[in-house]
Amino acid sequence: MILVTGGAGFIGANFVLDWLRAGDEPVLNLDALTYAGNLENLAALRDDSRHVFVQGDICDRALIDRLLAAQRPRAIVHFAAESHVDRSIHGPAAFVRTNVEGTFTLLEAARAYWSALDGAEKADFRFLHVSTDEVYGSLAPDDPPFAETKAYEPNSPYSASKAASDHLVRAWYHTYGLPVLTTNCSNNYGPYQFPEKLIPLMIANALAGKPLPVYGDGRNVRDWLYVGDHCAAIREVLAHGRLGETYNVGGWNEMPNLEIVHTVCALLDELRPDPAGPHARLITYVADRPGHDRRYAIDARKIERELGWRPAETFETGIRKTVAWYLANQDWVAHVQSGAYREWVVRNYGER
Ligand code: NAD
Ligand code: DAU
Repeated sequence: MILVTGGAGFIGANFVLDWLRAGDEPVLNLDALTYAGNLENLAALRDDSRHVFVQGDICDRALIDRLLAAQRPRAIVHFAAESHVDRSIHGPAAFVRTNVEGTFTLLEAARAYWSALDGAEKADFRFLHVSTDEVYGSLAPDDPPFAETKAYEPNSPYSASKAASDHLVRAWYHTYGLPVLTTNCSNNYGPYQFPEKLIPLMIANALAGKPLPVYGDGRNVRDWLYVGDHCAAIREVLAHGRLGETYNVGGWNEMPNLEIVHTVCALLDELRPDPAGPHARLITYVADRPGHDRRYAIDARKIERELGWRPAETFETGIRKTVAWYLANQDWVAHVQSGAYREWVVRNYGER
């Protein structure tokens, strides 16, 4: 089996669902169920014995030791993290704890477990660390996209904590020989993304007739990738990636935020017209995010060349699927918009 951390979150849940659709190797899913973790994402696996869920914290060394000893996974795929930049600005401590301390704890537990393995079990073990393009910092309009050789220049508490975790993973390979792999992916979108992130927030607000809060001038650029393509890339890296290497993952799909918001509005106008008028009327410019990175872009040639991975979705097909999913799953959105979510909205948008 494989051990997945953070498998009740957005990308982790998509990964677990895709993994068990593609094969029969069981998944041990360790997730603390923070505000971002949601067992509803895994409802399709409720009666599936290939999925074992454990609620727990990646900072809990004793728990991880017990799980590794009892379940003997052949790989760890590490998604668990605090993932939202705006939350990291309001409260960085949780990011240092989970992303840095949590990754450290997991690496140490993995090292102890792996060191005691023999032969093929030892040779085949993998620790795959899921990271982000944000560690590379911000690009000027004419800069080349991020290659794996780009120096790290993180600018937010979130990206700094992810950068720190990437460095730990690298060091555990060079110092201890732990068989690690790292992926640095661009912005994901798709089903089960928590409505604090740009695309699901815009869909939810537009459907509720609420303002669509665009930070700054709306011209910040992100490189968008459908979540299923990210999951496919992780499967490829896990199966065939070279030990100690990092692989950038992206869709060659740079777009300014405003264009994303207009695309979402146009799709909603088509699929769920609002008698009050086009959804784009709700676009509202608000104060910018402090330290807001201007542009991200991924050079994905290494993973394409070495592993033959390519995204299956274009932005047009992926965003249409995503908007349709949110329209068909408004109960899911309503459930996650709990009291805690409403407090977050007041905190982040109340004074903008
Ligand atoms: P998410 O916030 O939706 O999910 C994170 C999950 O981790 C949740 O289920 C949460 O309960 C769990 N978790 C948090 N703290 C934990 C802890 N201490 N112990 C155990 N579980 C804990 O995040 P996501 O968007 O699915 O991102 C997953 C990973 O992918 C993160 O490492 C993130 O940095 C990385 N990433 C995300 C994107 C993106 O666009 N969302 C892009 C590139 C990389
Ligand atoms: O690049 C990968 C990263 O993408 C991941 O590592 C992060 O976990 C993930 O959250 C995402 O980070 P971003 O900060 O790029 O995503 P977010 O959806 O928060 O914002 C996308 C862009 O939209 C960004 O330029 C800020 C802007 N934005 C966001 C929100 C929530 C707005 O203009 N208004 C908003 O209300």
